[in-house]
Amino acid sequence: MVKVLKDKCILVGVSGGIAAYKAAELVRQLIAQEARPQVVMTRSATEFIGPLTLETLSGTPVRTALFGPAAVPLEHISLGQQVDALVLAPATANLIGKLAAGIGDDLLTTIVLAATRPVLICPAMNVKMYDNPIVQDNLGRLRQAGFHVLSPAAGALACGAAGWGRLPDPVDIVEELAVLLTPQDLQGCEIMVTAGPTHEDFDPVRFLTNRSTGKMGYALARVARRRGARVRLVSGPSALPSPAGVERLMVRTALEMQEMVMEHFPHTDVVLMAAAVSDYRPASFVGTKIKRGGEEMILRLSHNPDILAELGKQKTRQILVGFAAETDDLQTHARDKLKGKNLDLIVANEVNRADSGFAVDTNEVTLIHRDGQVIPLPLLPKEEVADRVLDWVATVWPGNRAERIHG
Ligand code: PMT
Repeated sequence: MVKVLKDKCILVGVSGGIAAYKAAELVRQLIAQEARPQVVMTRSATEFIGPLTLETLSGTPVRTALFGPAAVPLEHISLGQQVDALVLAPATANLIGKLAAGIGDDLLTTIVLAATRPVLICPAMNVKMYDNPIVQDNLGRLRQAGFHVLSPAAGALACGAAGWGRLPDPVDIVEELAVLLTPQDLQGCEIMVTAGPTHEDFDPVRFLTNRSTGKMGYALARVARRRGARVRLVSGPSALPSPAGVERLMVRTALEMQEMVMEHFPHTDVVLMAAAVSDYRPASFVGTKIKRGGEEMILRLSHNPDILAELGKQKTRQILVGFAAETDDLQTHARDKLKGKNLDLIVANEVNRADSGFAVDTNEVTLIHRDGQVIPLPLLPKEEVADRVLDWVATVWPGNRAERIHG
């Protein structure tokens, strides 16, 4: 992740449920993002996980007491106002109920009720408890009051039941915090991202493809969503998990990708075409596995459609961003594609070195604008490349009313 949370002070409120042990991983993830977590635990939470664990991981004394020698005067008011954001993970039905009723009877509830910074509530409990209309009603009231609620994940629960109620993966909680702390300059923007390779089958077990993993496209999808866009990710085969809050549509072949992209194009504002679409597919598909034999095998190929060029012909108000993966004469080839496909921006992608392009976490690109402007970028993590591309999108997208905050 781009270090959105770097140096941000995050209050982690832990209440007493079995998922309290996952607070340790959440704190670890926050430290990995160079954030400064400050843990506050309810008395019941300390029954599930020792404060020493969270104290060691966060490097800061854990707060538990409203009264007594361990209490710091007025911290129950100041803490929720001094930090950058608060996250309650896990948030039990009890904590949620008390907050919804405005009850502050311990350190954590008083801090949250007096907080002036964004609060993210991560409910985790038994599925029946979560489904209880009273709990749902309380969550609704908290949402209305401006609290952010991250829905629990589904799966096996500690009590043996299965369903909604699991604390989401700490990585997803951290991503949600990043959303809360990122200027929403793409709010209301409908962005379609394509990512990954295509697989072009020539028998039931063999296909043509390339080395794309989807890392660049998935980074674009994550960052666009973090900045407030509604993101649809059309992905070729990829081992990457679906980014939180993004609608992912899986496809396999270039023809499938074409169909999916065309279907959603009319209601899209911006297309970011990072997929490595195969230019060719086998001219015929053999229904049974091709047997070994003969001197040589000749595979005939047909052209696949050029999806981006087709979008370039059909575009009305849409902003089109293409990628050009090049091994030689980077800018000349990229400019040809910018013009030939009627694009607004092309990301000329150096794929001739080990740390840039396919299947790595970093990328070296040059942004070439339709108006001739050329912006070479240094080697950067793919999320940072995505942020730079989206900075440009935010300046040209007519719906952008948010002020960019540069940190
Ligand atoms: O997925 P990763 O492992 O992270 O790798 C990232 C990447 C190197 C694949 C990515 O950064 C990248 O450069 N993607 C574009 C790869 C590519 O196919 O480039 P191209 O120069 O062949 O195509 C130019 C543009 O036309 C691309 O936007 C491509 O999506 C599009 N295209 C290409 C062929 C085709 N039949 N239809 C298309 O729409």
